[in-house]
Amino acid sequence: MEDKMNTTAPRHIGIIMDGNGRWATRRNLRRTRGHSEGIHAAKRVVLEAITQGIEYLSLYAFSTENWRRAEDEVAFIMALVARNLRNQYAFYRKNNVRVIHTGDIRKLPEEVRREIARVTEETAGNTAITVNLAVNYGGRDEIVRAVNRWLQQRDADENPRFCETQLRDHLDHPEMPDPDLVIRTGSEQRLSNFLLWQCAYAELLFSDRLWPDWNAQDLRDAIDWFRGRKRNFGGMR
Ligand code: FPP
Repeated sequence: MEDKMNTTAPRHIGIIMDGNGRWATRRNLRRTRGHSEGIHAAKRVVLEAITQGIEYLSLYAFSTENWRRAEDEVAFIMALVARNLRNQYAFYRKNNVRVIHTGDIRKLPEEVRREIARVTEETAGNTAITVNLAVNYGGRDEIVRAVNRWLQQRDADENPRFCETQLRDHLDHPEMPDPDLVIRTGSEQRLSNFLLWQCAYAELLFSDRLWPDWNAQDLRDAIDWFRGRKRNFGGMR
């Protein structure tokens, strides 16, 4: 069996942080309390990801579809994201965390746009890990934006052809390696428009634990599970 094992650690892990609402309602708390707890879980997992030598951690905080939620919940999540970016700055500095953003920033509230711009600029030189925050992110939306960027930049005289490399080069973060492992917490088993292009060969782990309950051990277990997977990228077994 040993030769079937994948001994490399994941370079990039993506997480669909699901189950905040259920975590709260099971405790007779407001759904928004679950989102606040979700921030603590994110910090625990970021710290463990650093310990495990993970280079990139993509966290799905708000999708292009999440605007359909109740207005007060959307407003709460937006304020939480802005406050988290502002208040956790000491956490990012102390732990040498670089923060980047993926998604359509233009449609976010001004306060969130400002905090994203500030944190990405101020943490740009940090090297322990890159946390890629997906806020107002949709995989289909990213692909459409990539195509539009390419259309705007192409040289009209060249009769250019569109190919996979062209698309990849115009994604939000072309420098970022594809996720090796994508984790979805909270029992559902779907991708929900998360990093669609980049997840082509990701290993998918679905966990029944709700996101606010996630801790360092859960991430270690997920990485151990990943190491046991045989990856062949469409080649021979
Ligand atoms: C899914 O749970 C969670 C969200 C839509 C929001 C996640 C946001 C955070 C954890 C805060 C932002 C995080 C960072 C790191 C800035 P759900 O509400 O869909 O849960 P449910 O399926 O139980 O209803």
